[in-house]
Amino acid sequence: ALAQDLTGRHVVVTAGGTREPLDPVRYLGNRSSGKQGYALAATAAARGARVTLIAGNTALPEPVGVDVVRVGTAAQLREAVLKAAADADAVVMAAAVADFRPAVYATGKIKKREGQEPDPVTLVRNPDILAELSAERARPGQLVVGFAAETDDVLANGRAKLARKGCDLLVVNEVGEHKAFGSAENEAVILATDGTETPVPYGPKEDLAETVWDLVVPRLPEHRP
Ligand code: C5P
Repeated sequence: ALAQDLTGRHVVVTAGGTREPLDPVRYLGNRSSGKQGYALAATAAARGARVTLIAGNTALPEPVGVDVVRVGTAAQLREAVLKAAADADAVVMAAAVADFRPAVYATGKIKKREGQEPDPVTLVRNPDILAELSAERARPGQLVVGFAAETDDVLANGRAKLARKGCDLLVVNEVGEHKAFGSAENEAVILATDGTETPVPYGPKEDLAETVWDLVVPRLPEHRP
C-alpha cells in the first residue's frame, strides 16, 4: 500500500514457532516458518508503523526498519509481548505458540539406558497469551488480532475461537500437510467481532498481511493528541 496509514502507530507482531525444551539438546517444536508474521511486520513498517517483531524459531532474514526481539519458549514470548504491548496500538499474534510444554525440564541430557524403555513425556498447558492480551488490553482501544490454523470445520471452529479468545480479529486458515506451513502462500478468512467475514484468496502472505492491516486501521481509536 502507498498509504502511510500506520504512521504514528506502534504495532507488535509475533512470528515463528516456539521451542519447548525437554533437556539441553532437545525440544518440542512445530512447522511454523515465520513467513506470515515477517510479512505482517514488513508491510506494517512500509505503511509507516513503528514495529516490534517478536520472533520465535525462524530462519528468515530480519526485515529492515523493524525492532526484532528473539525468543525461544512460549514463556519467553509471553514476557516479550506483554512488555512490548504496553504502548502498542495493535498486537498481532501470528506466532505458533506451543499449547503444551514438557512438564519437566531435565537439566542434563536424557540418556538411554541398557534394557530399559524411555520414560514417557508428560505435557502441561502453556498460558494462552492471545486470550490474556485480549482480556487485559494494556491500552484502551488496543486492537488484538489472532490466528487460527484449522484442519476441519474451519469457519465454525474459527467463529468459536474468536469468541473464546476475545480478540477483535481472527485470521483463520485451513492447514494440512501441503497447506500454509512453510509455504510462501496462504488462503484465509478474517473474522471480526462485528460479524464481518473477509475472505482472502490464495496468494502471497504479503497480500494477506496487507488485508489484515486494511481491517486493523479503521478499527483503531483516533490518534491521541
Ligand atoms: O488455540 P490455538 O493455538 O489454535 O490459537 C492460535 C492463536 O492463539 C494464535 O494467534 C497464537 O499465536 C495464539 N496462542 C497464544 N498462546 C498459546 C497458544 C496460542 O497466544 N499458548
